[in-house]
Amino acid sequence: MLDVEAIRRDFPILSREIHGRRLVYFDNAASTLKPVQVIEAIADFYKKHYANVHRGFHTLSQEASQMYEEAHETLAKFINAYSWDEVVFVSNTTEGLNLVAYAWGLYNIREGDEIVVTVMDHHSSMLPWRRIAEIKRARVRYVGVTQEGYLDYDQLNEVITEKTRVVAFPIASNVLGTINDVKVIVKRAREVGALVVADGAQSVPHVPTNVRELGVDFLAFSGHKMLGPTGSGVLWGRKDVLQELRPFKVGGDTIRDVTLDDVTWLEPPWRFEAGTPNIEAGIGLAKAAEYLMKIGMENVRQHEVELVRYTLKRLVEELGSEVRYYGPRNPEDKTGVVAFNIRGLHFHIVAQALDYLGIAVRSGMHCAHPLHYALRISHEDSPPAEIPQSVDERLRRFGSVRASFYIYNTKEEVDYFIGALTFILMVREQLKTKPVSAVCTGT
Ligand SMILES: Cc1ncc(COP(=O)(O)O)c(C=O)c1O
Repeated sequence: MLDVEAIRRDFPILSREIHGRRLVYFDNAASTLKPVQVIEAIADFYKKHYANVHRGFHTLSQEASQMYEEAHETLAKFINAYSWDEVVFVSNTTEGLNLVAYAWGLYNIREGDEIVVTVMDHHSSMLPWRRIAEIKRARVRYVGVTQEGYLDYDQLNEVITEKTRVVAFPIASNVLGTINDVKVIVKRAREVGALVVADGAQSVPHVPTNVRELGVDFLAFSGHKMLGPTGSGVLWGRKDVLQELRPFKVGGDTIRDVTLDDVTWLEPPWRFEAGTPNIEAGIGLAKAAEYLMKIGMENVRQHEVELVRYTLKRLVEELGSEVRYYGPRNPEDKTGVVAFNIRGLHFHIVAQALDYLGIAVRSGMHCAHPLHYALRISHEDSPPAEIPQSVDERLRRFGSVRASFYIYNTKEEVDYFIGALTFILMVREQLKTKPVSAVCTGT
């Protein structure tokens, strides 16, 4: 198990007070806090080794290049890739998924083809493929979600057909926490010869990841959601598929040679890392991956399962039907994400009240609007049966509060959180009169 007290000492920001109370950081699905090891690795790089990479024979450039290349190796180890050159550094999951959509989709999708995504998708996984479908006149099809918060596997055979060229899905939902059955999806996609693109933004930081066993063609994830710096992320790709791809962004650092009428691309991953990369972010991400490997991803997983088990038990037993909770009931089926609504109280108001008590959560639709509409996730007792035509009305009426855990969170923090929710329930009628903050754009 984790030595949470020792881990907490590595995170300086945890000693901060928010509105006079000790910070309880439950917004880890949005971004995690950073340990001193990561902060110092970045500072050390700037202080002692800084130079551009892959474009200098001078010592600093050689050192920076070596550190940046070793960072790829560390990330390859973290996800058990066969080799470092399957690891492309990107700025975040969104960029990784766009890279696949544009670099693969533009050249391989044709009019009339079908692209399958899921209703559970984060917009970053869904929208790049919708754009490609628009450009190529292809059709987008959706795998639905059950009321219990699982993918509707019964639909797979009907939705994934001989026309399907790509299947894109999240390994774990950022709202429901649901961990999807990758093997079942991959099996069906392979039957029809489709490319499989997995969004690992909410799985790689939380569950052990072994790309050799996943069976997908691409996996994208964000460094900032796994203790690493913002601006860091990975697109892992199967080597043979990567090798066939032309770069999505072109320019310096992608080529071996250019003449006035020809280009010879570099080998992967460099062909996909155009321009001067975010060197320090890559180096910081490697430090974060080392930190997690030292703790052990199995232990990270178990810690979150225990926190979720404890939270759900207390939510159900103590707050009963006053709190509506979304997603699988079995903690083993999900990551450390707990999305809920307090009946009758707007989700943004709940988030602001929790912030006043020192607890950071996210509220809104968490970049998964179609999922909220499909499951009618709302604080209202009777959310509209028909989805309203007005965007403003939809944004006002649909949404949830999301608490999400990580390695430094404790049961004592959950106790405090449950106490805070109990208090909010007590003053619910007064809070209902508060205007919903116009500045909160947490859609
Ligand atoms: C499931 C999922 N996919 C993709 C993303 C996009 O990640 P990023 O904003 O780091 O690109 C997120 C971020 O919240 C996510 O939760």
